[in-house]
Order: sequence, then structure tokens, then C-alpha cells
Amino acid sequence: MGTIVKQIIMGAFEINGVNLTSQGVWAHPEQQSYRYKDLSYWTDLAQLLEKGFFDFLFLADSYGYPSMNGETPDVAFEQAVEIPKNDPMLLVPALAAATSHLAFAVTTSTTFEAPFANARRFATLDHLTQGRIAWNVVTTSSAVVSDLFGRDGMIPHDERYAIAQEYLDVSYDLFEGGWDDDSVVADKSSRVYADPAKVHKIHHHGRYFRVDGYFNCEPSPQRTPVLFQAGSSASGQRFASQNAELVFLQGKDANTLKAQVANLRSGAVAAGRSSDAIKAIVGLSIVVAETHDEAVAKLDDFLSYVNPDAARIYYSSMTGIDLAKLDPERSFATVTTEGGRTQVERYKENTVREATADFLRNGMREFIMVGTPVEIADQIEALVEETGIDGFNYTPFVSPGSYRDLVELVVPELQRRGLMRTSYPAGTFRERLFGEGAARLPATHPGASHRTALADASA
Ligand SMILES: Cc1cc2nc3c(=O)[nH]c(=O)nc-3n(C[C@H](O)[C@H](O)[C@H](O)COP(=O)(O)O)c2cc1C
Repeated sequence: MGTIVKQIIMGAFEINGVNLTSQGVWAHPEQQSYRYKDLSYWTDLAQLLEKGFFDFLFLADSYGYPSMNGETPDVAFEQAVEIPKNDPMLLVPALAAATSHLAFAVTTSTTFEAPFANARRFATLDHLTQGRIAWNVVTTSSAVVSDLFGRDGMIPHDERYAIAQEYLDVSYDLFEGGWDDDSVVADKSSRVYADPAKVHKIHHHGRYFRVDGYFNCEPSPQRTPVLFQAGSSASGQRFASQNAELVFLQGKDANTLKAQVANLRSGAVAAGRSSDAIKAIVGLSIVVAETHDEAVAKLDDFLSYVNPDAARIYYSSMTGIDLAKLDPERSFATVTTEGGRTQVERYKENTVREATADFLRNGMREFIMVGTPVEIADQIEALVEETGIDGFNYTPFVSPGSYRDLVELVVPELQRRGLMRTSYPAGTFRERLFGEGAARLPATHPGASHRTALADASA
């Protein structure tokens, strides 16, 4: 192995519900995710992650649940496929109190939340976590959610991203532009809390949103939360190159992943940002044991709990596509959707039969590494070197068991190789990702221009 030049970013992929991405594995004897309603389940997990020097806990979310032709099949409830599921944001203050360094990435949707309310919640969390908050920006492709929110039908794919861009523009106004850095004096002797000359009204009159008035949160450590993004369709990538600071890539093997990393870097440069302005991470699951054969048997045991019908409706929930209705010999390259495209385009070189087999086995998982701690560390090291990936979205089979395996058996080996840190640096989450002093969006990020614009306008 060559010289290691960088430490990897490690995030934990979670959902405030029963199943993550392997539908049915909730019933495995070692699985404790059914305890998602207990705060102690989450505080214990957050502390375990911090013990293992994870960078962040990522909480995926959607208001949706599976629906096929307007009906929710019984198996959705029997196997807890995306339902039930609690609000992830409400966990964060408790987890922040139980930890000192771990950051939290919370998912909210630009299609369904009001920008003002969303910005206020993230600003509040940035204060309460002292700069340990990130926002996973999603556009939501679910017709079910349209019904739940009283909207007429699903918004077409590319328009969802146009809405998302305007949503971020108004959010940057709120986060970055409403209050100057030195607007809060909090001086008891002069009895002045904030300087009115340094607080600015937002005036956003766009195609989709209108916001007029003052943002009511004072400046927080990071202002704009660290921006995460996942959709890798063409419009998703364009959106990421302009806004995202960390992206979940979907590479299935080293070659496709390497190409995606290169693409992301050149997209950032084309958007006027630096080539390393966006961190790229990819899904990683590990199954580790003292011997390789034991680890393989352990993986087979986890997979034996996957329920194929539940996996199929989970796929349909993300993409709008019923795999059972397609000709197994058809090329997936000819399959199109107005739902989420990433899980469709991922299979463009496969037949429907191959795609179905892969999804039923892996769900959304990307890299699954199986073996002894040294074998797994070798694979991680090789993948990082070959592809230039910045880190991983660790996707457990069982919780907290899969985390304990990583933290106790693999992290020490990664630390020995210099791939993982042995202590946390001080500072906000953005500084941990981009270096000391980088608590705020950099000047080359489009959000930064919203700082001066409002101050100039009201001068
Ligand atoms: C690791 C990962 C996490 C994701 N988390 C969420 C989520 O929490 N909520 C959601 O609605 N979509 C989530 N998605 C889906 C994407 O945000 C996106 O909506 C989907 O890939 C469709 O976008 P596209 O059409 O650009 O591909 C996730 C995707 C990945 C790869």
C-alpha cells in the first residue's frame, strides 16, 4: 500500500424508524432498531459513534411510505417499510447534550417545508449544537407526500430541482444576510441587545417563494448548516455542484466511483468553486469476524432476513417503479421515471432481472466489505487510494452491533494506518471538514454572496 495522505470522513447512516435499507432485517435477533422510540437507544449510539471517532450521524427522512397503484400493501406494515418513522430533527438536542464532537445531519425537503420555518429550525440547532449541524437537502419524489400535504399530484423531476435552487437562494438570504456578524452586542451596561442598523429585512420575490421581513434567529456559529446532497441524476448533480459541501455518491465499483468523484470535482470547478469544495462519500457496510469464513456466514445470516416483497415496495416507494411489472430481460437503460432517478440510473448497464436481484440483496447499499479487520482495512485503504473518495456513509446491518464491530475491530486498524483520527480537533463541523477557520461558507460558495447583498440593499 502507498503512503496515506488523508484521513477519511466517517458518517453513520440512520433513520428514526425500524428498518434502514434492508427491509426485514428489523427481525434479526441482534437488531435493536425497533427501540428507535427510546431516547437512550440514540444517546448510547451517539456516544458509541463518538468513541469510534465518527464525524457525523446522518438521519435520513421522508414523510412518505410505500404505495403501489394508490394502495399500501399489507407487507409495508408487517415489515415496517418506511412506516412507522419518527421525526429525526427532534432527536438532535438530546444527542448534542450527550456528546461533544459528533455532528448531526438532518434531512428536510425543499418540496414540502416552508423555507423560513426550515431555516429557523436549522439556525436553532446550529446554536444548540455549537456548530455541529448539517442539512441533507432532498427534493422528495413521493406522490404519497403530495397527498399528505394537500398538493395536486407530484411535481415533475427537474422542476423539483428548480424549486430546490430557489429554496436555497432564499435560505442563504435568511442564514447569511439577515444579521451582520457584529449585529448582536448583548451589552448590559448600554442595555442594547442588537444593533438595528445591522439587522436587515429579507425581500425575496421569486417564482416559487415569497419572504418579506426579518429572520428571527441571531447569527449562529456556522450560519448556513453544512449542506449535504444525495440525488445523482443530471439535475441533482448540477444542484450539488452549485450548493453541496458533501455529497453521497452511488458508485458500485472502484471504476464507476472514481469517475463520479472526478465528475463531482470538475462540476465544482465549473461552478466557480474549488475542486475540493465538495466532499464525496459513498455507502459502506462491513461484516467483520475473526476469520473470513465466519464473516461470510454472518453476512448470509443477515441477508436471510431480507423480505423480497418488502424490498420490492421499498424500491417502488423511491422510484415509482414496480420491478415485478417489468419484463425481466428488458435493459434497465430504457426504464425512466419522474420519481427518484438515482436508483434507476444505477442499473443502466443491467437487465431488469439483474437489477431486481441486486436490489433485493443489497437495498441501497453500495460497498459491502466482508472479512477480518485487516482484510477490511486493506479494502478501505485500496478504495480510497484508487478513487479519491473522501470517506464513507457507514450503513449497518444491525444496530448497534454493526457499529460496535466497526468501532472495536476496524477503527483501531484504520487509526494505525493513519486513515482515521485519534482525537477530535476543536471547532465546528464545517471546520472539521474544510480546516481551521472555515466555520462559514467560503467566499467562492454562492451562498456567501447573500451576505453583502442584503447589507448593501439596506445601506
Ligand atoms: C445515502 C443516501 C441518502 C438519502 N437520504 C434521503 C433521505 O433522507 N430522504 C429522501 O427523501 N431521499 C433520500 N435520498 C434520495 C436522494 O436524496 C434523492 O432524492 C434521490 O436519489 C432522487 O434524486 P435524483 O432524482 O436526483 O436521483 C438519499 C439517497 C442516498 C444515496
